[in-house]
Amino acid sequence: MHRIEIARATDARGELALARRGDVLELVVDGVFAMDSAQTSTEQALARLALDRLAARSGSATVPTPGRRVLVGGLGLGYTARTLLDDPGVGAVEVVELHAALVDWAHHGLLPQLADDDPRLTLTVGDVLDVVPARHGLDAVLLDVDNGPDFLVHTGNADVYASPFLTAAYAALAPGGVLAVWSCDPAPTLRTMLTEVAGDCTEVLLDVPRGSRTFTYALYLAERGPGEDSARP
Ligand SMILES: C[S@@+](CC[C@H](N)C(=O)[O-])C[C@H]1O[C@@H](n2cnc3c(N)ncnc32)[C@H](O)[C@@H]1O
Repeated sequence: MHRIEIARATDARGELALARRGDVLELVVDGVFAMDSAQTSTEQALARLALDRLAARSGSATVPTPGRRVLVGGLGLGYTARTLLDDPGVGAVEVVELHAALVDWAHHGLLPQLADDDPRLTLTVGDVLDVVPARHGLDAVLLDVDNGPDFLVHTGNADVYASPFLTAAYAALAPGGVLAVWSCDPAPTLRTMLTEVAGDCTEVLLDVPRGSRTFTYALYLAERGPGEDSARP
């Protein structure tokens, strides 16, 4: 299929390209395929599973609690953010994105998932490593900034999957909040670390067919206790 480049930008953090192959939109970061719109079930599941956890905590999966505040690490093509915004119980979504150009492209309607200009959405240009520790009282923090701890696009993102940052992300949660992390592979070390930070961690493995192959992606979910008013040490 013929590839048409829609936009390209280079900044201090690297190079970004948005391209289209037929109906499929593709994001390439530093020459490495980051994602495309052909298969986004796990990006959506990251949001859906966290929202389900919050709903279960509030005692009903059908009656939404208005005004949930969620931070998403990594804009990508906007599927995680879209899933959140499709939930009427979500009051505010802040997406933190390293590349200013991608945020700019979103503002200019190049990311169809976010083309509706929802007032609940804020796009912040920054590094999750800097922004998340400055936040507090969030109902969920969803991290999908890289391929996972074992296959990094940005080597600087190793710290995203390390204990000090995961502790800060957990501390940014309100009591009953959910921290969820996406990985393109099962990541036992990450699971252990999250268990140490939060006291427990659920691993959800999702099989995703791509062409003739099936990949197993992993989501890690950790919850802050409803009565816990300060972060675990
Ligand atoms: C795989 S994409 C996210 C996909 C997204 N969940 C979706 O639904 O489309 C990863 C995104 O994280 C961004 N990113 C990488 N490192 C980051 C960091 N340290 N802080 C914030 N954003 C980062 C990348 O530029 C890219 O846009």
